[in-house]
Amino acid sequence: MTLLIKEILKLKPKNQLVTAKGWVKNFRANKFISINDGSTIQNIQCVMDFENFDDLLIKKINTGASISVNGKLVKSLGSGQDVEILVEDIKIYGESHPEKYPIQPKKHSFEFLRENAHLRIRTTTFSSIMRVRSKLSYAVHKFFQEENFQYVNTPIITSNDAEGAGEMFRVTTLDAKSPPLEKNNVDFKRDFFSKKTHLTVSGQLEAESYALGLGKVYTFGPTFRAENSNTTRHLSEFWMIEPEMAFFDLESNIDLAEKFVKYILNFIIKNCLNDLMFLEERLCNEEKNKPKNERNEMKLIEKLKFVVNNKFERISYSKAFEILKNCSKNKKKKFEFLVNDWGIDFQSEHERYLVEKYFKKPVVIFNYPSKSKAFYMRLNDDETTVAAMDVLFPGIGEIIGGSQREERLNILKNRMNEFDISQNDLWWYTELRRFGTVPHSGFGLGFERIVLFATGISNIRDVIPFPRTPNNALF
Ligand code: 4AD
Ligand code: MG
Repeated sequence: MTLLIKEILKLKPKNQLVTAKGWVKNFRANKFISINDGSTIQNIQCVMDFENFDDLLIKKINTGASISVNGKLVKSLGSGQDVEILVEDIKIYGESHPEKYPIQPKKHSFEFLRENAHLRIRTTTFSSIMRVRSKLSYAVHKFFQEENFQYVNTPIITSNDAEGAGEMFRVTTLDAKSPPLEKNNVDFKRDFFSKKTHLTVSGQLEAESYALGLGKVYTFGPTFRAENSNTTRHLSEFWMIEPEMAFFDLESNIDLAEKFVKYILNFIIKNCLNDLMFLEERLCNEEKNKPKNERNEMKLIEKLKFVVNNKFERISYSKAFEILKNCSKNKKKKFEFLVNDWGIDFQSEHERYLVEKYFKKPVVIFNYPSKSKAFYMRLNDDETTVAAMDVLFPGIGEIIGGSQREERLNILKNRMNEFDISQNDLWWYTELRRFGTVPHSGFGLGFERIVLFATGISNIRDVIPFPRTPNNALF
């Protein structure tokens, strides 16, 4: 079996024969070849005596070429690595053109790499980001399994709009140019599923059904939103983790959310330190080019440890509203969107002020005005707020959104009417309240938003392999 470079680097050098396979990162002085196979941030150095090799073969050892090197593993004489391979044999799998290969051994801009997303994974930066992403998803499963949650897979094609926001991608096999009509409207009864369907915006409603039988469940799957938000925080296709727990109230829900994000961030501090150190270094260089007031005060690893080691601030919407209103009144902070009437939606500038300037740590806001949140959230006794919660992170804003769910049938029905949501379509959802209803809660974590935070990267398009955003579905 071929060893990965990560595994070879851990061996004790005893002149044993090893084979390393990967892509050439660098070839210096016709002697030193650095190869990387993506398993680790470190390259393996292979030392060759060019006199023993054919000129034609040497010419093919260019950055980006894929090769296999066989030789003795020895202690390295140079600094920068513990071991190296003394090359005895080289095989070239695929050549690479020294000038035409887009990923040259130099620093490329994120924009350039986005246009070359099929090759960007060969860079140190992207392989680091994607290794951290992979470890984070492992930590997600590890956390929930250790907490006795069951993993459920909810449908990707659905007929319900879980968030009631209407921002969905239609799924149809009808002819786009001349669909069958019924009284001048498209006749969806003749569509593939005999009804109007689209890609899911959230697996929550189905997860609720499973929680009310399995107890504690979580989903981890792709979600799709046709919102026209061209920001550094929004994707049209993103991955979401949605735990749902029977017999949990809002407070236990917030406790779980806090424990969960701390667990997964702590997991990567422990298991991805080399990648994080590299990303920190790369980002520090970029910070220097930013104006002083926009620079991050903390370095990446320090910032992660800060979140893991400090209790999140928990405040009600009304309290947050008071703070923001007083800040504008005292002219401490000038907001573009005024904070004058209770009930307004907080904008990103308000959230960032609370998190980054006022509390200087993650903030959980709960009990939002009922009008601004989804129909399924539980109405509080004051009848004007719902048991909702958002977790806000520095530099990101909302990373988690969740709530206690409305478990009382009559109140749920009223809320559905208020939001113009069809009880016919969601008959099964209301039935969960008719038979054996229980208090229950859950939340959704946008996976790319936590990868963004964990890697310190500033654009969400750079933490998912092939981003989908308005006007872009390249690759
Ligand atoms: O707040 P949202 O819309 O909540 C729900 O979908 C609920 N059904 C969750 C639940 O209670 N089970 O979305 C949840 C999270 C947000 O906090 C954000 O992190 C992320 O999903 N998110 C996005 N991430 C990337 N691109 C987008 N367009 C996103 N929209 C939401
Ligand atoms: Mg939300």
